[in-house]
Amino acid sequence: MYSPFKPTAGKRPPVLVGRDDDLDAFRMAIEEGPGAPERLLFVTGARGIGKTVMLNALSDMVKERDWFVVNETASVGFTERIIGSLADRDSRTASYTLPSLSLESPLGSLGATLNLGKMQVSHDLAALDLRHAVGERLDRMDEDRQGVLITLDELGAESPMDEVRAFATAVQHLIREDRNVAVVFAGIPGMVNDVVNDRILTFLRRAERFHLQNVDLPDVWEAFEHTISDNGKSADYEVLNLLTEATHGYPFMIQLVGHQAWRASDRNGHPDAITLQDAQEGIEKARDRIGELVNGPAVDGLPPMAREYLLAMAIDDGPSNTGEIARRMHRDAKYASVYRSRLINEDFIKPTDRGFVDFRMPFMREYLRGHAAFYQLEESLADELRGSTGD
Ligand SMILES: Nc1ncnc2c1ncn2[C@@H]1O[C@H](COP(=O)(O)OP(=O)(O)OP(=O)(O)O)[C@@H](O)[C@H]1O
Ligand SMILES: [Mg+2]
Repeated sequence: MYSPFKPTAGKRPPVLVGRDDDLDAFRMAIEEGPGAPERLLFVTGARGIGKTVMLNALSDMVKERDWFVVNETASVGFTERIIGSLADRDSRTASYTLPSLSLESPLGSLGATLNLGKMQVSHDLAALDLRHAVGERLDRMDEDRQGVLITLDELGAESPMDEVRAFATAVQHLIREDRNVAVVFAGIPGMVNDVVNDRILTFLRRAERFHLQNVDLPDVWEAFEHTISDNGKSADYEVLNLLTEATHGYPFMIQLVGHQAWRASDRNGHPDAITLQDAQEGIEKARDRIGELVNGPAVDGLPPMAREYLLAMAIDDGPSNTGEIARRMHRDAKYASVYRSRLINEDFIKPTDRGFVDFRMPFMREYLRGHAAFYQLEESLADELRGSTGD
């Protein structure tokens, strides 16, 4: 039997651990009808905490009620793709372009500046197109019973803001008109805040939030128990304890630990049990993989100073004193605190006691210690390059 665990971004886990309250709140909002608060929702949380999986779970819930669902990511062209899906057109073939959505200008960025007025018109038309596309879809359905859910994943600083504004404007109108719709955005908290604080998007500030956190260990234990026994292996109390503790309640780690322990048991010739040794081997592998899959990409996406802040923290075995971090960075406390806020905002770290911070993402400390030399080398190379180009 293959491993039932799903250590892959966005993949539905065998057991969705610890999300019942959120799912119930959304279910009630769907049942209550237009105007219920969770129908305009932000799902936020650290990388690998389960945002995409949550969007999928919410989508499945309404699909069971015969709703029409569009899942998109907030990258360039998403408004057009949503309209395409709503109208049953295949936007990938790009056989048509909505006239109102073509923002390109033959003059490039200069043209775009000259055409600001035209862009405004274009934005209004895009919003109108979206509103009509949703409206038309609903007109073809039994709107007392069925609705339209749109999910927009990976909202963030790099999302095309003109499209996000057009989309939000359309949503605002649809909600005001009491149409049977629900809209769920997902992203890293800090980036979502940037979007929500946009001058034009004030109505999004009133949206509900599910800020996903690590899940409780007893729930993780039970999920391991069920998943392992339902799929033809057994694991005793001690093994289940070990697996559970290794996850720190971090959803991605549940899948990685389960998967690697399962594989180790196959490798070690244990077709119907995960032994203590299998569990230990699996946990070891999972720790390596979490670094490559989650910590690495997350750290790489940060500005160099924020990275330095984390590296300065990783020297400690536990929570770090913020004054000491600033000293290690050779910066004053005020300068360092800018990066501290950003890292807290993006769920990398959390304040513990007064004047202390600690990592929020599990294994970040271990990952940084293992890669500190690499990042420092990269930094000095970058410095040298900047020096040689005279920037
Ligand atoms: N509640 C959960 N219980 C068990 N496993 C989960 C849960 N939520 C997510 N997972 C698992 O964690 C992994 C990451 O989930 P997902 O891709 O949804 O995270 P994400 O928050 O969207 O990450 P990113 O910020 O990188 O987009 C997947 O392997 C998924 O199966
Ligand atoms: Mg995701």
